[in-house]
Amino acid sequence: MRILSGIQPTGALHIGNYFGMMRPAIALQNEGEAFYFIADYHALTRIQDPAVLRENNRRVALDFLACGLDPERAALFLQSDVPAVPELAWILSTVTPMGLLERSHSYKDKLARGAPASTGLFTYPVLMAADILIYDSDVVPVGKDQKQHLEVTRDIAVKMNETFGQLFKLPEPRINPATEVVPGLDGQKMSKSYGNTIEIFGDEKETRKRVMSIVTDSTPVEAPKDPKASSIHQLYSLFASEGEAAAMSKAFQRGGTGYGDFKKQLFEKLWEYFSPMRKRREEISADKSYIDNVLSRGAKRANEVAEQVMKRVRAAVGF
Ligand code: TRP
Repeated sequence: MRILSGIQPTGALHIGNYFGMMRPAIALQNEGEAFYFIADYHALTRIQDPAVLRENNRRVALDFLACGLDPERAALFLQSDVPAVPELAWILSTVTPMGLLERSHSYKDKLARGAPASTGLFTYPVLMAADILIYDSDVVPVGKDQKQHLEVTRDIAVKMNETFGQLFKLPEPRINPATEVVPGLDGQKMSKSYGNTIEIFGDEKETRKRVMSIVTDSTPVEAPKDPKASSIHQLYSLFASEGEAAAMSKAFQRGGTGYGDFKKQLFEKLWEYFSPMRKRREEISADKSYIDNVLSRGAKRANEVAEQVMKRVRAAVGF
């Protein structure tokens, strides 16, 4: 089984990235041949400062490795180290109906939030389809927000197969239902573009401050509270054991505890959860060439597979 996923290097990774994509991807590295990449071609649709892009790429690699990605099992690489990806994206774009991309929620959201309507942003899902199809991927662990992109990938694969003969496997999305949506500080989905994130490796003071700033309603301390409606409880459940989550749920319903206390409990759990990973991150940071080595080995492996698939594709289209 080949497992593939990508993550955008848009800055510090947050716990929405962690539960949506990174943790499931790391868990899957033991179940097949895993390919995980840093989507820097995609990131060009919003980052146009080369120093920032370079820095973000390294930082994502570091954070991913610190969180448990094992480069002996999974290939970790930069998307831009596999130049056949945009080549395939072009070929795919020639069978992709405009209407399919025009229906993209993600594109419409980005425009609504003021992103410039570049053709790169518009064809983002085609590049993503190329990312996936070029490795004959079977399974793609992603957050729920990527569901439609995976549907587009499958539609494009079907269209290619109809046009040029059986070329591509249809990849399956793997969306972990327990962590479908990680709420941010304001209760909306946690997302870098909403500015409502808690970073995985933020410093202690800043992380505590962010947790304490989770938006709550004005229910008084004494009154019972609804754990299901609270992002504090939802976030706590991601880190705590079932028993601990149930205990907090009871305390919510009992009344007598203020939101501030629950936030403190959340901070403690979260901080403890990432503690071994912070340690690992320091170790990795100390070895300057480690990340470069991992990425170049990953790129080599990725290109081997991509080139095999591209041979098939180039021949099928008539090059
Ligand atoms: N669009 C994904 C995101 O923003 C990143 C991504 C790019 C990706 N290519 C991919 C994810 C291929 C999975 C497979 O999170």
